[in-house]
Amino acid sequence: MDTAFVGLMPKQVKAAHEDFLEERLQFGPFPLEKTILGVWLDKTEEVRKKLALFLGAKESEIAFTYCTGCGSNIALNGIDWKKGDNAVIDDLEYPTDFHILNVLRKKGVEIRIARHENGAVSPEKFEGLADKRTRAFVVSHVSYLNGFRHDLKKLADIVHAYGGYLVVDSAQSIGGIKINVRDEDVDFMSGIPYKWLIGPNGLGFLYVREELVPLIAPDRLGWASTNDFTSLDTMESNPLPDTARRYEYGTLGFESVYGLNASLDYINRIGMDAIEQRNLKLIHMLRERLRSQKVMFFTPEENRSPILTFFTDNERAFGKKMKENKILITARRKKKGQVRLSPHFYNNEEDIEAFMRTFSRI
Ligand SMILES: Cc1ncc(COP(=O)(O)O)c(C=O)c1O
Repeated sequence: MDTAFVGLMPKQVKAAHEDFLEERLQFGPFPLEKTILGVWLDKTEEVRKKLALFLGAKESEIAFTYCTGCGSNIALNGIDWKKGDNAVIDDLEYPTDFHILNVLRKKGVEIRIARHENGAVSPEKFEGLADKRTRAFVVSHVSYLNGFRHDLKKLADIVHAYGGYLVVDSAQSIGGIKINVRDEDVDFMSGIPYKWLIGPNGLGFLYVREELVPLIAPDRLGWASTNDFTSLDTMESNPLPDTARRYEYGTLGFESVYGLNASLDYINRIGMDAIEQRNLKLIHMLRERLRSQKVMFFTPEENRSPILTFFTDNERAFGKKMKENKILITARRKKKGQVRLSPHFYNNEEDIEAFMRTFSRI
Protein backbone atom coordinates (compact mmCIF):
# COMPACT_ATOMS: atom_id res chain seq x y z
CA MET A 1 0.00 0.00 0.00
CA ASP A 2 2.73 2.40 -1.05
CA THR A 3 1.79 3.33 -4.62
CA ALA A 4 2.45 6.99 -3.84
CA PHE A 5 6.11 5.92 -3.60
CA VAL A 6 6.32 3.35 -6.44
CA GLY A 7 3.51 1.34 -8.10
CA LEU A 8 3.64 -2.40 -8.69
CA MET A 9 4.68 -3.30 -12.23
CA PRO A 10 2.55 -5.74 -14.26
CA LYS A 11 4.30 -8.55 -16.13
CA GLN A 12 2.97 -7.02 -19.35
CA VAL A 13 5.06 -3.91 -18.74
CA LYS A 14 8.16 -6.00 -18.11
CA ALA A 15 7.40 -7.91 -21.34
CA ALA A 16 7.18 -4.63 -23.26
CA HIS A 17 10.61 -3.64 -21.92
CA GLU A 18 11.86 -7.01 -23.09
CA ASP A 19 10.42 -6.43 -26.59
CA PHE A 20 12.50 -3.29 -26.75
CA LEU A 21 15.60 -5.07 -25.49
CA GLU A 22 15.11 -7.84 -28.05
CA GLU A 23 15.00 -5.22 -30.82
CA ARG A 24 18.22 -3.73 -29.47
CA LEU A 25 19.81 -7.14 -29.27
CA GLN A 26 18.83 -7.97 -32.85
CA PHE A 27 20.04 -4.61 -34.14
CA GLY A 28 22.75 -5.18 -36.67
CA PRO A 29 23.85 -4.55 -40.24
CA PHE A 30 20.88 -6.31 -41.83
CA PRO A 31 18.48 -4.62 -44.24
CA LEU A 32 15.66 -2.91 -42.44
CA GLU A 33 12.86 -1.02 -44.14
CA LYS A 34 13.30 1.63 -41.52
CA THR A 35 16.17 2.44 -39.26
CA ILE A 36 15.82 1.20 -35.71
CA LEU A 37 15.37 4.85 -34.68
CA GLY A 38 12.46 5.05 -37.11
CA VAL A 39 10.83 2.05 -35.40
CA TRP A 40 11.24 3.68 -31.98
CA LEU A 41 9.92 7.03 -33.22
CA ASP A 42 6.82 5.36 -34.72
CA LYS A 43 6.18 3.66 -31.37
CA THR A 44 6.59 7.02 -29.64
CA GLU A 45 3.86 8.55 -31.83
CA GLU A 46 1.55 5.59 -31.12
CA VAL A 47 2.05 6.01 -27.38
CA ARG A 48 1.72 9.80 -27.58
CA LYS A 49 -1.75 9.28 -29.10
CA LYS A 50 -2.69 6.78 -26.41
CA LEU A 51 -1.53 9.06 -23.58
CA ALA A 52 -3.31 12.07 -25.11
CA LEU A 53 -6.56 10.09 -25.26
CA PHE A 54 -6.04 8.98 -21.66
CA LEU A 55 -5.75 12.61 -20.53
CA GLY A 56 -8.52 14.00 -22.74
CA ALA A 57 -5.91 15.96 -24.72
CA LYS A 58 -4.74 16.12 -28.34
CA GLU A 59 -1.53 14.36 -29.29
CA SER A 60 -0.15 17.73 -30.42
CA GLU A 61 -0.41 18.87 -26.78
CA ILE A 62 1.79 16.12 -25.34
CA ALA A 63 5.58 16.21 -24.96
CA PHE A 64 7.56 13.32 -23.55
CA THR A 65 10.08 14.23 -20.88
CA TYR A 66 12.23 12.33 -18.41
CA CYS A 67 10.51 13.16 -15.13
CA THR A 68 7.75 15.27 -13.59
CA GLY A 69 10.20 18.02 -12.71
CA CYS A 70 11.31 18.27 -16.37
CA GLY A 71 7.78 19.26 -17.37
CA SER A 72 7.40 21.66 -14.44
CA ASN A 73 10.69 23.35 -15.38
CA ILE A 74 9.64 23.73 -19.01
CA ALA A 75 6.24 25.17 -18.06
CA LEU A 76 7.38 27.53 -15.30
CA ASN A 77 10.56 28.70 -17.01
CA GLY A 78 8.65 29.19 -20.27
CA ILE A 79 6.23 31.73 -18.83
CA ASP A 80 7.14 35.27 -19.81
CA TRP A 81 7.52 36.58 -16.24
CA LYS A 82 7.86 40.29 -15.62
CA LYS A 83 9.31 41.84 -12.48
CA GLY A 84 6.50 42.13 -9.94
CA ASP A 85 4.50 39.18 -11.26
CA ASN A 86 3.56 36.50 -8.75
CA ALA A 87 2.84 32.78 -8.48
CA VAL A 88 0.64 31.16 -5.85
CA ILE A 89 1.63 27.72 -4.55
CA ASP A 90 0.45 25.78 -1.49
CA ASP A 91 2.39 24.20 1.34
CA LEU A 92 1.28 20.66 0.44
CA GLU A 93 3.25 20.87 -2.80
CA TYR A 94 6.26 18.69 -3.69
CA PRO A 95 9.70 20.43 -3.34
CA THR A 96 10.41 20.62 -7.10
CA ASP A 97 8.12 23.57 -7.84
CA PHE A 98 9.43 25.50 -4.84
CA HIS A 99 12.98 25.08 -6.16
CA ILE A 100 12.00 26.35 -9.61
CA LEU A 101 10.02 29.29 -8.23
CA ASN A 102 12.80 30.22 -5.81
CA VAL A 103 15.12 30.72 -8.77
CA LEU A 104 12.45 32.81 -10.51
CA ARG A 105 12.50 35.14 -7.49
CA LYS A 106 15.76 36.46 -8.93
CA LYS A 107 13.74 37.79 -11.88
CA GLY A 108 11.54 39.64 -9.43
CA VAL A 109 8.78 37.04 -9.29
CA GLU A 110 6.97 36.99 -5.97
CA ILE A 111 6.03 33.63 -4.46
CA ARG A 112 2.83 33.54 -2.43
CA ILE A 113 2.16 30.50 -0.30
CA ALA A 114 -1.35 29.29 0.45
CA ARG A 115 -1.19 27.50 3.82
CA HIS A 116 -3.32 24.44 4.38
CA GLU A 117 -5.93 24.33 7.11
CA ASN A 118 -6.44 20.86 8.57
CA GLY A 119 -4.84 19.33 5.49
CA ALA A 120 -6.88 21.22 2.89
CA VAL A 121 -6.21 24.30 0.75
CA SER A 122 -9.44 25.71 -0.63
CA PRO A 123 -9.73 27.48 -3.99
CA GLU A 124 -10.86 30.52 -1.97
CA LYS A 125 -7.48 30.53 -0.24
CA PHE A 126 -5.78 30.75 -3.65
CA GLU A 127 -8.23 33.44 -4.73
CA GLY A 128 -7.43 35.49 -1.64
CA LEU A 129 -3.74 35.57 -2.65
CA ALA A 130 -4.29 36.30 -6.36
CA ASP A 131 -4.35 39.63 -8.14
CA LYS A 132 -3.85 40.96 -11.64
CA ARG A 133 -0.10 40.24 -11.46
CA THR A 134 -0.72 36.53 -10.79
CA ARG A 135 0.71 34.51 -13.68
CA ALA A 136 0.31 31.03 -12.24
CA PHE A 137 -1.31 28.81 -9.66
CA VAL A 138 1.14 25.95 -9.10
CA VAL A 139 -0.32 22.81 -7.53
CA SER A 140 -0.13 19.06 -7.27
CA HIS A 141 -3.44 17.60 -8.37
CA VAL A 142 -3.04 15.23 -5.41
CA SER A 143 -0.58 16.06 -2.63
CA TYR A 144 2.26 13.61 -1.98
CA LEU A 145 2.00 14.42 1.73
CA ASN A 146 -1.60 13.73 2.59
CA GLY A 147 -3.38 13.05 -0.70
CA PHE A 148 -5.30 16.34 -0.62
CA ARG A 149 -7.02 16.61 -4.00
CA HIS A 150 -7.46 20.01 -5.57
CA ASP A 151 -10.57 21.00 -7.48
CA LEU A 152 -8.70 21.86 -10.67
CA LYS A 153 -11.69 23.38 -12.47
CA LYS A 154 -12.33 25.86 -9.66
CA LEU A 155 -8.64 26.82 -9.53
CA ALA A 156 -8.57 27.18 -13.32
CA ASP A 157 -11.60 29.49 -13.31
CA ILE A 158 -10.01 31.72 -10.67
CA VAL A 159 -6.53 31.95 -12.19
CA HIS A 160 -7.91 32.44 -15.71
CA ALA A 161 -10.00 35.37 -14.50
CA TYR A 162 -6.69 37.04 -13.53
CA GLY A 163 -5.09 36.08 -16.86
CA GLY A 164 -2.80 33.45 -15.29
CA TYR A 165 -2.18 29.75 -15.90
CA LEU A 166 -2.90 26.60 -13.93
CA VAL A 167 0.29 24.51 -13.69
CA VAL A 168 -0.37 21.01 -12.35
CA ASP A 169 1.86 18.18 -11.16
CA SER A 170 -0.07 14.93 -11.67
CA ALA A 171 2.55 12.50 -10.31
CA GLN A 172 0.15 11.44 -7.54
CA SER A 173 -3.02 11.40 -9.60
CA ILE A 174 -2.46 9.99 -13.09
CA GLY A 175 -3.65 6.38 -13.06
CA GLY A 176 -5.09 6.67 -9.54
CA ILE A 177 -8.05 8.92 -10.29
CA LYS A 178 -9.67 10.08 -13.53
CA ILE A 179 -8.17 13.07 -15.30
CA ASN A 180 -9.52 15.12 -18.16
CA VAL A 181 -7.40 18.17 -18.83
CA ARG A 182 -10.02 19.70 -21.11
CA ASP A 183 -12.92 19.37 -18.64
CA GLU A 184 -10.71 20.63 -15.82
CA ASP A 185 -9.37 23.47 -17.96
CA VAL A 186 -5.73 22.84 -17.05
CA ASP A 187 -3.00 24.79 -18.87
CA PHE A 188 0.04 22.63 -18.06
CA MET A 189 0.21 19.18 -16.55
CA SER A 190 3.37 17.19 -15.93
CA GLY A 191 3.62 13.64 -14.62
CA ILE A 192 5.24 10.23 -14.58
CA PRO A 193 4.02 6.66 -15.04
CA TYR A 194 5.95 4.77 -12.34
CA LYS A 195 3.47 5.32 -9.53
CA TRP A 196 -0.29 5.09 -10.17
CA LEU A 197 0.07 4.30 -13.87
CA ILE A 198 2.06 1.20 -12.84
CA GLY A 199 4.47 1.94 -15.67
CA PRO A 200 8.14 2.51 -16.37
CA ASN A 201 10.78 4.77 -14.84
CA GLY A 202 12.85 7.27 -16.77
CA LEU A 203 9.98 8.78 -18.74
CA GLY A 204 7.63 11.65 -18.00
CA PHE A 205 5.23 13.84 -19.93
CA LEU A 206 4.09 17.41 -20.19
CA TYR A 207 0.66 18.46 -21.42
CA VAL A 208 0.55 22.00 -22.77
CA ARG A 209 -2.79 23.50 -23.79
CA GLU A 210 -2.81 23.95 -27.57
CA GLU A 211 -3.13 27.76 -27.53
CA LEU A 212 -0.11 28.07 -25.22
CA VAL A 213 2.32 26.02 -27.30
CA PRO A 214 3.33 28.96 -29.53
CA LEU A 215 3.63 31.25 -26.48
CA ILE A 216 5.77 29.04 -24.28
CA ALA A 217 9.31 28.95 -25.60
CA PRO A 218 11.29 25.79 -24.78
CA ASP A 219 13.83 26.45 -22.02
CA ARG A 220 16.18 23.85 -23.55
CA LEU A 221 17.01 22.87 -27.12
CA GLY A 222 18.69 20.08 -29.03
CA TRP A 223 18.85 18.26 -32.34
CA ALA A 224 15.25 17.06 -31.91
CA SER A 225 13.86 20.59 -31.39
CA THR A 226 13.02 20.98 -35.08
CA ASN A 227 10.24 20.13 -37.49
CA ASP A 228 12.44 17.85 -39.54
CA PHE A 229 15.06 16.54 -37.20
CA THR A 230 15.98 13.68 -39.52
CA SER A 231 17.93 16.17 -41.66
CA LEU A 232 20.12 17.10 -38.68
CA ASP A 233 20.24 20.50 -40.31
CA THR A 234 21.04 23.74 -38.50
CA MET A 235 18.49 25.59 -36.41
CA GLU A 236 18.34 28.47 -38.92
CA SER A 237 16.65 26.31 -41.53
CA ASN A 238 14.51 24.33 -39.07
CA PRO A 239 11.87 26.20 -37.12
CA LEU A 240 10.50 24.76 -33.89
CA PRO A 241 7.56 22.41 -34.29
CA ASP A 242 4.22 24.08 -33.63
CA THR A 243 3.19 21.17 -31.40
CA ALA A 244 4.31 20.23 -27.89
CA ARG A 245 7.01 18.12 -29.53
CA ARG A 246 9.03 21.36 -29.49
CA TYR A 247 9.76 20.59 -25.83
CA GLU A 248 11.48 17.31 -26.72
CA TYR A 249 15.09 18.03 -27.50
CA GLY A 250 17.03 14.77 -27.42
CA THR A 251 16.83 10.99 -27.65
CA LEU A 252 14.06 9.65 -25.45
CA GLY A 253 14.25 6.59 -23.22
CA PHE A 254 12.47 4.44 -25.81
CA GLU A 255 12.51 1.38 -23.59
CA SER A 256 10.21 3.28 -21.25
CA VAL A 257 8.02 4.38 -24.16
CA TYR A 258 7.42 0.65 -24.84
CA GLY A 259 6.72 0.14 -21.14
CA LEU A 260 4.25 3.03 -21.02
CA ASN A 261 2.39 1.58 -24.00
CA ALA A 262 1.80 -1.61 -22.03
CA SER A 263 0.88 0.12 -18.78
CA LEU A 264 -1.69 2.32 -20.54
CA ASP A 265 -3.17 -0.79 -22.17
CA TYR A 266 -3.33 -2.51 -18.79
CA ILE A 267 -5.03 0.45 -17.08
CA ASN A 268 -7.39 1.05 -20.03
CA ARG A 269 -8.50 -2.59 -19.97
CA ILE A 270 -9.74 -2.12 -16.41
CA GLY A 271 -10.94 1.46 -16.99
CA MET A 272 -10.37 4.55 -14.90
CA ASP A 273 -13.99 4.64 -13.66
CA ALA A 274 -13.57 1.25 -12.04
CA ILE A 275 -10.07 2.05 -10.74
CA GLU A 276 -11.06 5.33 -9.13
CA GLN A 277 -14.15 3.77 -7.57
CA ARG A 278 -12.20 0.89 -6.12
CA ASN A 279 -9.40 3.12 -4.83
CA LEU A 280 -11.84 5.41 -3.05
CA LYS A 281 -13.57 2.38 -1.54
CA LEU A 282 -10.26 1.02 -0.19
CA ILE A 283 -9.42 4.42 1.31
CA HIS A 284 -12.86 4.67 2.88
CA MET A 285 -12.41 1.25 4.48
CA LEU A 286 -8.98 2.19 5.81
CA ARG A 287 -10.27 5.46 7.20
CA GLU A 288 -13.16 3.78 8.99
CA ARG A 289 -10.90 1.09 10.48
CA LEU A 290 -8.38 3.70 11.63
CA ARG A 291 -11.09 6.01 12.95
CA SER A 292 -12.15 3.30 15.36
CA GLN A 293 -8.53 3.37 16.63
CA LYS A 294 -8.89 7.12 17.26
CA VAL A 295 -6.00 8.19 15.01
CA MET A 296 -5.64 11.82 13.97
CA PHE A 297 -5.86 12.18 10.20
CA PHE A 298 -3.78 14.60 8.14
CA THR A 299 -5.99 13.87 5.13
CA PRO A 300 -9.20 15.92 5.25
CA GLU A 301 -12.60 14.20 5.47
CA GLU A 302 -14.46 13.90 2.15
CA ASN A 303 -11.16 13.99 0.25
CA ARG A 304 -11.42 11.95 -2.95
CA SER A 305 -7.96 10.50 -3.60
CA PRO A 306 -6.28 7.14 -2.97
CA ILE A 307 -3.89 8.51 -0.31
CA LEU A 308 -4.60 8.58 3.41
CA THR A 309 -2.14 10.01 5.97
CA PHE A 310 -2.40 10.00 9.74
CA PHE A 311 -0.18 11.42 12.47
CA THR A 312 1.79 9.34 14.94
CA ASP A 313 4.51 9.89 17.54
CA ASN A 314 5.87 6.55 16.60
CA GLU A 315 6.63 6.65 12.87
CA ARG A 316 9.88 4.69 13.26
CA ALA A 317 8.06 1.78 14.87
CA PHE A 318 5.47 1.89 12.08
CA GLY A 319 8.15 1.81 9.41
CA LYS A 320 9.96 -1.09 11.08
CA LYS A 321 6.98 -3.25 12.02
CA MET A 322 5.27 -2.87 8.67
CA LYS A 323 8.47 -3.81 6.88
CA GLU A 324 8.89 -6.87 9.08
CA ASN A 325 5.40 -7.93 8.08
CA LYS A 326 6.08 -7.19 4.41
CA ILE A 327 3.57 -4.35 4.29
CA LEU A 328 4.71 -1.41 2.20
CA ILE A 329 3.82 2.04 3.53
CA THR A 330 5.61 5.38 3.92
CA ALA A 331 6.43 6.44 7.49
CA ARG A 332 8.30 9.72 7.96
CA ARG A 333 8.74 12.74 10.16
CA LYS A 334 7.95 16.20 8.79
CA LYS A 335 7.58 18.29 11.92
CA LYS A 336 5.16 15.58 13.08
CA GLY A 337 5.43 11.83 12.53
CA GLN A 338 3.24 10.68 9.64
CA VAL A 339 2.14 7.40 8.11
CA ARG A 340 0.99 7.52 4.49
CA LEU A 341 -1.12 4.73 2.98
CA SER A 342 -1.67 4.59 -0.77
CA PRO A 343 -3.45 1.42 -1.88
CA HIS A 344 -4.20 0.87 -5.58
CA PHE A 345 -6.76 -1.34 -7.31
CA TYR A 346 -4.47 -4.36 -6.84
CA ASN A 347 -4.86 -4.16 -3.06
CA ASN A 348 -7.79 -5.82 -1.34
CA GLU A 349 -9.65 -6.10 1.94
CA GLU A 350 -7.18 -8.71 3.20
CA ASP A 351 -4.32 -6.21 2.79
CA ILE A 352 -6.27 -3.76 4.93
CA GLU A 353 -6.85 -6.44 7.57
CA ALA A 354 -3.15 -7.34 7.56
CA PHE A 355 -2.27 -3.67 8.01
CA MET A 356 -4.72 -3.31 10.90
CA ARG A 357 -3.41 -6.45 12.60
CA THR A 358 0.12 -5.07 12.50
CA PHE A 359 -1.15 -1.61 13.53
CA SER A 360 -2.67 -3.10 16.68
CA ARG A 361 0.73 -4.53 17.68
CA ILE A 362 2.52 -1.15 17.61
C1 LIG B 1 3.87 15.18 -6.26
C2 LIG B 1 5.12 14.61 -6.83
N1 LIG B 1 5.70 15.21 -7.88
C3 LIG B 1 6.80 14.71 -8.45
C4 LIG B 1 7.38 13.55 -7.99
C5 LIG B 1 8.58 12.97 -8.65
O1 LIG B 1 9.26 13.92 -9.38
P1 LIG B 1 10.19 13.49 -10.59
O2 LIG B 1 9.36 12.68 -11.54
O3 LIG B 1 10.60 14.79 -11.15
O4 LIG B 1 11.31 12.69 -10.04
C6 LIG B 1 6.83 12.90 -6.89
C7 LIG B 1 7.47 11.70 -6.35
O5 LIG B 1 7.22 11.25 -5.26
C8 LIG B 1 5.66 13.44 -6.32
O6 LIG B 1 5.08 12.84 -5.28
